[in-house]
Amino acid sequence: MHILHVVGARPNFMKAAPVLSALQRQGVRQTLVHTGQHYDAIMSDVIFRELAIPVPDVNLGVGSGTHAEQTAQVMVGIERCLGERRPDALVVYGDVNSTVAATLAAAKLGIPVAHVEAGLRSGDRTMPEELNRLVTDRLATWLFTPSADGDRNLLAEGVDPQSIWCVGNVMIDTLMRLLPIADSAPLLHDLGIPRPQRYALVTLHRPSNVDDDTTLVRVMDALESIAADVPVVFPVHPRTRRRIASRPSAPVGLTLTEPLSYLQFLALQRDAAVVITDSGGIQEETTFLGVPCLTLRSNTERPVTVTLGTNQLVGGDMARLRALVREVLDGRPKRGVVPPLWDGRAAMRIADLLTGGQCTARSESDCSTSLQPA
Ligand code: UD1
Repeated sequence: MHILHVVGARPNFMKAAPVLSALQRQGVRQTLVHTGQHYDAIMSDVIFRELAIPVPDVNLGVGSGTHAEQTAQVMVGIERCLGERRPDALVVYGDVNSTVAATLAAAKLGIPVAHVEAGLRSGDRTMPEELNRLVTDRLATWLFTPSADGDRNLLAEGVDPQSIWCVGNVMIDTLMRLLPIADSAPLLHDLGIPRPQRYALVTLHRPSNVDDDTTLVRVMDALESIAADVPVVFPVHPRTRRRIASRPSAPVGLTLTEPLSYLQFLALQRDAAVVITDSGGIQEETTFLGVPCLTLRSNTERPVTVTLGTNQLVGGDMARLRALVREVLDGRPKRGVVPPLWDGRAAMRIADLLTGGQCTARSESDCSTSLQPA
């Protein structure tokens, strides 16, 4: 069996790493294609090294562009690759433009697609990721969901239950593997926030938060006022940096950094008093770590982080954001539990299912519940 994996943007890399390694252990022939959607060293190469992902066999170098440009360029490149390499299956991850583009190209060539992190829905079609999820899931043959809400969403859309497999969360596989070696001390020392001082950690990159000037000003004002109570560490995504740089005045009291490596950011998350974010993956990682997460969105495609985990949706309500940060600092954070099957073995289940073998990684109880087709 020959499997071709496509990755393109930062959040794909931590999802692909454990799947590549689980399939390698089973002796499967694999080809790794990087579309080049993310290309800065810190957004890509450094994370590849930390996660020990093999150097990609192909890099399409598509870079940035409008959604249509990026999607079209990935489609053209992947179609060529699939024609040359003729894999038996394509594996795609998450919901970025590279994911949907590769899926479209493969489906048209009749190559079956496995979607890792299938079934997530925010219900918000203004988000490009939601459109990417809908199209990818419609075309994929194997739908590997991270949590039972994913199964329910797919069933409600009429997907064949035999295609849906609740395998757990591959991001958590990577987190569990690398958490023991993640150390926040050197970075915090460099930032002038040595332990045990508490701090808030912020990430923002959604177009809905950073592309509109009025919204960005309100969010930055709220963060500045929070920084009066607790140090605020803010690694700034390239998209967001451009937007902040165009503001008339520099942010006051915030510790802005370049994007961090995976290990640096993981360590900072684990040790943060509270995380403020609009990322999807960070809602999951904080739930696993038991760190309170305040999400600057009015919906989430990861509702299990709210129902079971530490996540709370704040939307655009900055007064509520400040109040919830205050609750955390006063010792009243939201507590949660780790969702089922977020146990470090999701990629092993995927590898077992793709190779048609038994799910040797699953436990007795998993076997009789989630690891049946939905
Ligand atoms: C993409 C994903 C988003 C994911 C995010 C993680 C889509 C639709 N969006 O958003 O789901 O959460 O990645 O980061 O696929 N840029 C650089 N260097 C890079 C990459 C990007 O400077 O290595 C800049 C470019 O100016 C680019 C902008 O960031 O125009 C946005 O990059 P893009 O890949 O279009 O989307 P993201 O906002 O990163």
